[in-house]
Amino acid sequence: MKLLRAALWLLLPVISRAEPISITVGTVSVITGLISYYGLHNYFWGSSRVEGTVNVTALQLDFEKNIFGQHLAKQVIIKAVPRFLSNENPKKPLALSLHGWTGTGKNYISQILVNNIYSEYMRKKCVRTIVATLHFPHASHIQEYKDQLQTLVRSSVSDCERSIFIFDEIDKMHPGLIDAIKPFLDYYDHIDGVSYRKAIFIFLSNAGGEKITELSLKFWRAGRDREEIKLSDVEKDVYLSAFNKKDSGYWHSSLIDKNLIDVFVPFFPMEFRHVKMCVKAELERRGHDADEEITIAIAKDMTYYPSGEKVYSVKGCKTVSTKLDLFL
Ligand SMILES: Nc1ncnc2c1ncn2[C@@H]1O[C@H](COP(=O)(O)OP(=O)(O)OP(=O)(O)O)[C@@H](O)[C@H]1O
Ligand SMILES: [Mg+2]
Repeated sequence: MKLLRAALWLLLPVISRAEPISITVGTVSVITGLISYYGLHNYFWGSSRVEGTVNVTALQLDFEKNIFGQHLAKQVIIKAVPRFLSNENPKKPLALSLHGWTGTGKNYISQILVNNIYSEYMRKKCVRTIVATLHFPHASHIQEYKDQLQTLVRSSVSDCERSIFIFDEIDKMHPGLIDAIKPFLDYYDHIDGVSYRKAIFIFLSNAGGEKITELSLKFWRAGRDREEIKLSDVEKDVYLSAFNKKDSGYWHSSLIDKNLIDVFVPFFPMEFRHVKMCVKAELERRGHDADEEITIAIAKDMTYYPSGEKVYSVKGCKTVSTKLDLFL
């Protein structure tokens, strides 16, 4: 590998000296081929990072820096995912179900997680995002969708055994479709010669959001810190509402019946102080000073609920970026 790296660096000046475009293009193709063949994108991605694994400290730092107000989600993911990825012989794929109000960071945390596991190059091969309303909008096409979904999962895992599937808006997905992915999540060694046991399935939904808000509000009214809320305090409520609500997508789904979801991850609604943190982070991302006056003005411009106490942002941090455009 060291030899190859050296060869690459030796080749670069040659490319820059060579005049004819064809030579340059040809050499670039050879290099791209080498990069892909020997997995050298790891070298460019970051020498200490290995595709399909995660550096716990780096992930923790990334979460601390970017994800606000979600102590349980951060804890649970940091505990579950690295352990799963370092297990060479898991008995089943890892299935995480992320629940919570809109704009609380479910997509965002999933994105940060996959970015810590795979380079951009490998994400194209190993990470699939399925959006129920976008990819499977018509209930009447359910049989066709089932086939498409099963083909997608099979071909992705055949190509990349540690594939990550993000199912967005699972609460809007037809229960029959959820049942179609059930075999992949179960304790099978192989299905038609393919093993799914190293894959990760992440389900995102708003189901259970009201229950999580109720619980947070109870703590808030009692003057208690929401960081005191433990997973066991909330997991049962989320689990029950996800299971019982007819429109939750999990309704009567065999994923629940068969205990195929490993962990339910609650996302708490965003308070004013968290919205401020989102604004500051966004300002810094855009290269501005995190000016306290602008931060407060933008955070105040969001709508808060419940109507009397106005504790939580109706849209979480979702519209922070658009609001910022108007203020800057
Ligand atoms: N907890 C959070 N910490 C930091 N930023 C956040 C957080 N939640 C949301 N954001 C910001 O808001 C944007 C939208 O959040 P995201 O798409 O993750 O929400 P969501 O929970 O998936 O909502 P929905 O249920 O509507 O899909 C993110 O890209 C991020 O900039
Ligand atoms: Mg989302």
